[in-house]
Amino acid sequence: MSPQMPRHIGIIMDGNGRWAQVRGMMRIRGHEAGVDSVRAVTEECARLKIEQLTLYAFSAENWKRPGLEIELLMQLLKRFLTGERDTLMNNDVRLTSVGRIDGLPKAVRRELELTQTLTANNRGTNLCLALNYGGRLEIVDAVRKLAAEVKEGKLTPDQIDEAAIAARLYQPKMPEPDLVIRTGGEMRISNFLLWQISYSELYVTDTLWPEFRAEHLHRAIVDFQRRERRYGGLVDRIQSKAGAG
Ligand code: FPP
Repeated sequence: MSPQMPRHIGIIMDGNGRWAQVRGMMRIRGHEAGVDSVRAVTEECARLKIEQLTLYAFSAENWKRPGLEIELLMQLLKRFLTGERDTLMNNDVRLTSVGRIDGLPKAVRRELELTQTLTANNRGTNLCLALNYGGRLEIVDAVRKLAAEVKEGKLTPDQIDEAAIAARLYQPKMPEPDLVIRTGGEMRISNFLLWQISYSELYVTDTLWPEFRAEHLHRAIVDFQRRERRYGGLVDRIQSKAGAG
């Protein structure tokens, strides 16, 4: 049997600041270099026919950074959303987003909406940008929707189950990530897709995001393919032992 490819890969793109600092550059230069990695990894996921790639581009906690860094990150995001349209179209990539999009600057929202509309009919990889995103906030937003529906009498409290919460997340139809990659070496989840990563395989690499390319993605996928996914059960292990004789 050929090894399973992950359907959905999530990436916590960390290490841009450190990459710049060791070169004596401003942190924003690291974010700029990170855009080349975003392009390379998106193109490779498209080539490998990965269904979804979710990139943690700006967390709800990132507003705590210095004002200038935030401003330059927003400019960079806007530039990406306009400048990469040809790349997205040429690779049949559909752009989507998760997060509190209303909280982003208007100019970014406008370009995001335009790029999403332009690429909406593409059938290759879904490139999902997590923007002004927090995993706990996403759950809060889902719970608010449920509370409103209960108040309106559309739902009773005992109808609230895992499926009801999952159906009210930002992108309810997304497959849960099979593989979450974090660059920059820290062993943390940092509030990324909390609900959806319950059974995801984690892969942490010391490679800093601006240096991450297709070869690094391949290493993560090969590592993922060696894992035994049991979802809390024992069935696979028992079966493979029995199979081994
Ligand atoms: C974390 O690195 C990275 C970010 C907060 C932003 C990620 C943004 C990009 C890769 C570029 C823009 C993205 C798109 C999709 C256009 P860090 O600054 O925390 O690194 P450090 O841990 O070394 O300080």
